Amino acid sequence: MKVSNRALSSRFADAARSSDRGVTRANWAELLDWKLDQESDRPIYQQVADFLRNKILSGVLPPSSRLPSSRQLLTELGVSRTTIITAYSQLLADGYIVGHIGSGTYVAHDVINRIDPKTLPVRLPAEARGLSKRGGRYRDVDLTRLVMDNVPFNVGMVRVDGRTSAQLRQLAARKLAVDPSQLGYIDPMGDISLRDEIAKYLGVARGVRCSADQIILVAGTQQAVDLAIKVLLDPGDEVWIEDPAYPFTALALDAAGMLLRPVRVDDDGLSIADGIAAAPNARAAFVTPSHQYPLGVSLSLQRRQQLLDWAARNNAWIVEDDYDSEFRYDGPSLPALQALDRAGRVIYAGSFSKVVFPGLRYGYLVVPPALVGAFTGARALSDRHPPVFFGSLLAEFMERGFFVSHIRRMRNEYRRARDILAGQLKRDIGHLVDVVTPGQGMHLTVYLRDGLSDEQVGAEARREGIMVRPISRLYRANPPRSGLMLGFAGFDEHRLRSAATRLSLVLERLSPRPGQTSGRKHAAI
Ligand SMILES: Cc1ncc(COP(=O)(O)O)c(C=O)c1O
Repeated sequence: MKVSNRALSSRFADAARSSDRGVTRANWAELLDWKLDQESDRPIYQQVADFLRNKILSGVLPPSSRLPSSRQLLTELGVSRTTIITAYSQLLADGYIVGHIGSGTYVAHDVINRIDPKTLPVRLPAEARGLSKRGGRYRDVDLTRLVMDNVPFNVGMVRVDGRTSAQLRQLAARKLAVDPSQLGYIDPMGDISLRDEIAKYLGVARGVRCSADQIILVAGTQQAVDLAIKVLLDPGDEVWIEDPAYPFTALALDAAGMLLRPVRVDDDGLSIADGIAAAPNARAAFVTPSHQYPLGVSLSLQRRQQLLDWAARNNAWIVEDDYDSEFRYDGPSLPALQALDRAGRVIYAGSFSKVVFPGLRYGYLVVPPALVGAFTGARALSDRHPPVFFGSLLAEFMERGFFVSHIRRMRNEYRRARDILAGQLKRDIGHLVDVVTPGQGMHLTVYLRDGLSDEQVGAEARREGIMVRPISRLYRANPPRSGLMLGFAGFDEHRLRSAATRLSLVLERLSPRPGQTSGRKHAAI
């Protein structure tokens, strides 16, 4: 977690103001919450230094304030004087404090300018002691996974063509001219015209049977998952997740304290038999049936029926993430699970992130009528309602038919990008890897052979300016396959071809010569 310089500046400005008002000594009450973390591998002096650094960064010890003497501190914290002196020496060396140990040490008056942002602690262990258990789990979420560079083959990238850009610009300019309907709060479920449009679209495109009254607009699938967890589950509940799984769903469930039961995925999608054998009484299953993330397979019709039967028998919930179903290339896809559900157990989540662009932060939930009240309540208490401006913009984008023609045009472009990438990789390195051409979506999968590690290929590719997502790290329990996810949607032909050439060179370099095995194991989480 990075602390921005601007956030730091304002925190320090506050602290400096309080020190101007004469607060020049430590706020002792705040310093007495120290407790040694016996389980930590960090040496005690390091824990003391972290603790004091956090107090400085959070403004408890303001700029120019005098630090307690090492004697006072050792009495209060119950650690040795050497430990305190070593901790102080480190803070002196890092520029957080100035003066002489023994004759007076102070927080540097210009501490903000002295701190190299790279040395900021990633975690704030001392402050974390006040966190709830859930808060501690949120603190530990690995945010580096959110890094979304615009480099091939980042799976988070999309393209928006000139025609769509112009249409969006035109609609936005009109909407920005002050519209009185945008000046107040609205229904927590969101813009009714947009919900009407989504209901119509889903009926035709995905067989989803719903009215606008069952649709709740949310900030993308991520908020849909968050709300489903809040409304349907309690900490400690068992939940099936696909193995391998979309990391942001798994992380959200983990952080909320669910007991994750990873269920194997094969060529027919999630193995329902495995799920029933491992956790027959799970409360919910979180799935990507139309295009399994990351493997790209589709849940067979028979398995869809088995999953729905299990959920109906056990009063379990199915959360269906239908994330990139708009981009189907080879024939029609199977209907959504929601379309086959007779027992009202499916919560359907769709997103504009893939089909338009992720920065919109717009998506939707379709919930059974009996759940509308609970979901709407949770949504309202989370962030009142979705942004009015983009809601009405998307509504008009759909009403005027722009959305459907955008899908048609982008589907052609993405199909072409898929064929270019798959074709080039098969030709250049088909003898080294298995390239799977997907029938849907915005990424393809490349399986590695001969024990070649996808993590190693990923790291090497990064050095060549390419981003490939290793699949093995997305597994939790089942033997991981070594493979790479390659997003093809966000890049033009030139970038795709040149990145494919670089990736081929990396794979040529790392692959064992004939008769030789790499002996490398691929990394699990
Ligand atoms: C499996 C899966 N679900 C959903 C999404 C969309 O997430 P959001 O709507 O939160 O942007 C993505 C985007 O990458 C995804 O890969």
